[in-house]
Amino acid sequence: AAKQDVRIVEVGPRDGLQNEKASIIPVEVKVELINRLARAGAMTIEAGSFVSPKWVPQMAGTAQVLQGIKKFPGVHYPVLVPNERGLDDLLQLLDANPGLTDEIAVFTAASNGFARANLNCTVLESLVRLGGVVRRARERGLRVRGYVSVVVECPYEGRTGYGRVREVVRELVDMGCYEVSLGETVGRGRPHQVAEMIEEVKKGVSVDLLAGHFHDTYGTGVANVMTALQHGIRTIDSSVGGLGGCPYSPGATGNVATEDVVYALQESPYHVVGSSSGNTIDLEQICDIGWWISEQLGRTSVSRVERAMRSR
Ligand code: HMG
Ligand code: MG
Repeated sequence: AAKQDVRIVEVGPRDGLQNEKASIIPVEVKVELINRLARAGAMTIEAGSFVSPKWVPQMAGTAQVLQGIKKFPGVHYPVLVPNERGLDDLLQLLDANPGLTDEIAVFTAASNGFARANLNCTVLESLVRLGGVVRRARERGLRVRGYVSVVVECPYEGRTGYGRVREVVRELVDMGCYEVSLGETVGRGRPHQVAEMIEEVKKGVSVDLLAGHFHDTYGTGVANVMTALQHGIRTIDSSVGGLGGCPYSPGATGNVATEDVVYALQESPYHVVGSSSGNTIDLEQICDIGWWISEQLGRTSVSRVERAMRSR
């Protein structure tokens, strides 16, 4: 039977690096990371964020990063935009350098507690704000992706009502997002919870508009990815080396590692779409990148597959 295509959104350079506290990672390292990921076959690579540098200092150099990377044909380099100010900055950059990116991502949450911590407003206020951001971005020809955080559990409010997730996803789709990524921000979600959540969200929007974004704090990341695929989702966010965490989700670790997802799907009914030879994402190259970037950050990769392959 023909394989089902799975698209991976590589979030390492954004979600992966935004939480690094020790020191500001040089622009050249971020540029090198993104170029290496594109060479390994990644088709969508989140390049950074136009957020307040007071809130997330590590993303302050995103304009320079966008200017520094080599643009591989067919690869998308989305950036996060939280408000009009972030969009103004990006559009000004694009006026001078058209073609730096063709996509933004906007983000909100399923709980007011998380929205306040991450965006300094309620969910409703964020949706009102984002309406204008999405409209202006689309008028300028940008694609817009949406994120909903804390889809299973919130660090401030506990368990999330999945009906609320469905409503917020629907709002983002109605606003003009071409896809909404379901953020399991804390990384404690279990496969059966992810399954229930997705089934509830599917009552509001078609499953082709959804993506899965799983942090791996409790080690359920790959299982949650497989669950999302079984429930019809075909776009998965992951982070090379399992880097990352959200600064406003205390204790949460990185996203599920790209290495671990690519490995789990090899020889399966799913085909990871990529641009490298073989039209996929190259596992050995991704492992090397995870090892290299972890070393740059003074640690070892947390990807189980990377460790296992290196000790063979
Ligand atoms: P605020 O403090 O309410 O903003 O923050 P404000 O409008 O009152 O402005 C305060 C100051 O920030 C002003 O400067 C603004 O000019 C400046 P001052 O006058 O004090 O010098 N400012 C900006 N500067 C640069 N770029 C901007 C910008 N906006 C305002 N865009 C705000 C509100 C939304 C700005 C803030 O809360 C923020 O930046 N939040 C972003 C937090 C963030 O990036 N979190 C991580 C990404 S989301 C995530 O990781 C979850 C995800 O992975 C999915 C999942 O796992 O669930 C996507
Ligand atoms: Mg995240």
